[in-house]
Amino acid sequence: MAMLDKSEAKTADVSVKASHPSNETGYRAFEIGSFKFERDEYFVTISWRVNDRMMSHKMSADTFLRALMRDVAWGFFYAQVNFDTVFGTNNLYGRVEMYAGSFNPAFTEKGLDLKETFDSPELMATFKAMLEDWTNEGFDPFAAPDETGMTWSGRKKGSNLDAIERERVVAKRHPGLPGDIALRTDRNGYPVNRAFADVPQDEPEVHAEPGFEDQLSAFNLFAYLSRSDVTWNPSVTSVCKNSLYCPTTEEYILPIKHGNDRVEWFIQISDEIYWEIEDKETGKMRAKLLMRAGDVASMPADIRHQGMSKKRSMLLVWENANMDLPRMHAEGELPPYPVEF
Ligand code: PHB
Ligand code: FE
Repeated sequence: MAMLDKSEAKTADVSVKASHPSNETGYRAFEIGSFKFERDEYFVTISWRVNDRMMSHKMSADTFLRALMRDVAWGFFYAQVNFDTVFGTNNLYGRVEMYAGSFNPAFTEKGLDLKETFDSPELMATFKAMLEDWTNEGFDPFAAPDETGMTWSGRKKGSNLDAIERERVVAKRHPGLPGDIALRTDRNGYPVNRAFADVPQDEPEVHAEPGFEDQLSAFNLFAYLSRSDVTWNPSVTSVCKNSLYCPTTEEYILPIKHGNDRVEWFIQISDEIYWEIEDKETGKMRAKLLMRAGDVASMPADIRHQGMSKKRSMLLVWENANMDLPRMHAEGELPPYPVEF
């Protein structure tokens, strides 16, 4: 699902505008285009200049860092990543638009919103530097709050590069096939999560006809997911042409409100997730949805959504990787929903 190759961002010749560490808090401030970002003990403040006015917006630093972690790890993801109702990014696939207030009528109706476009590697470099500087020792923006505690708050204290530079686990075809990602075990650093202690760990037996050993694979997806060390991080786990199965484990709140640019399908494979679904442009509430184990839903192309999971749960996100879809939706060639009944 990452649209921007990590190495592309690393090798690009881009500079980051950062201040000296603050005497008071130890954190640096960052600037890119007309936007400025500062963090203190509890909050991140985003400021922008529009129509000769300085605007500013505050978010809790943990919410901001959890959203920033996803935008960085997912290379700006599909379409729109709202950090909250005001700030976020739109992936233009190669370039990226950063905005404040542009999908919130309280700002747009008064002309107080701002959208600026950057080359993806340029914004990525600033986002990575900010994530690195503002993530304290012990805070893992991918972990559930119960597992990472309040380590995000207070003055700057150390860093957590292991957590923020975690390689994204992306299958080429299927876990377990030769040359592909490995199944998760205690030995390779993936113990069963506390919430999934009851998930059976047996694996299917695979007996391939001679000559087909590198084409046939099966594994226990429940066992695989029970060993996921991250939350709200769909990872490509089986690939068949444009069909991507991206299962994920979810606990607490999806740190972003994702704005779709294509239809996607959700299959709830354990426990429950409660979804809030809003209009993508205005944020107006469209639906509330409780998905229980076994439920299937299609998420339309013209919405933003955010999920809540009171206990760690397993969700299969089914994505269509056809890169023509955003244009087809934008030009009205396709309806925003998948089927007519
Ligand atoms: C989504 O927006 O579709 C999405 C993103 C992250 C998740 C689940 C769903 O963990
Ligand atoms: Fe989505």
